[in-house]
Amino acid sequence: MNSDSDLQIAGDILEVPHLLQAPREHPATVAEFAGLVRSIAADRSQWEHLVRYDATTRWYHRLRTGPGYEVWLLSWVPGQGSGRHDHGSSSGVWTVLEGTLTEHTARGTHALGTGTQRVTAPGYVHEVVNDTLEPAVSLHVYYPGLTEMPMHAPQCSAAAVPEEAAADAAPAR
Ligand SMILES: [Fe+2]
Repeated sequence: MNSDSDLQIAGDILEVPHLLQAPREHPATVAEFAGLVRSIAADRSQWEHLVRYDATTRWYHRLRTGPGYEVWLLSWVPGQGSGRHDHGSSSGVWTVLEGTLTEHTARGTHALGTGTQRVTAPGYVHEVVNDTLEPAVSLHVYYPGLTEMPMHAPQCSAAAVPEEAAADAAPAR
């Protein structure tokens, strides 16, 4: 038997489907979580009917769960904000689905328009506010699922509060 080529040894890959790897059902890397966020954002039928603007509190809805992760939909009326917080031991990938949100961090302030995507590591401190006159919607994936959201003291614009002092501040809830 003549077996001097790889093709003859391995055979034709299309004839051995059991050797092909199935696409991963659940994301496992930052890039794959970002891809999940993009695919949900692009399919309005998955989230549009769940948007709910509530003037008394930010409205949030758990859209999906998977092994170790959760996907949340948040609706923001003008003026609503998160307060300054971190995300415990969770990493996050999030995007603005509609409107514009403003993110305040120790590094500055950024207006995040529709389609902007952000990645947060454990310990990342920020405050997100809808300071426009239009409602906004955002989509957040947390890995692992968010079990705590420690609140931090508001950032003092005149004289920066030392990070340690802010981290030690009592939670606001
Ligand atoms: Fe956050």
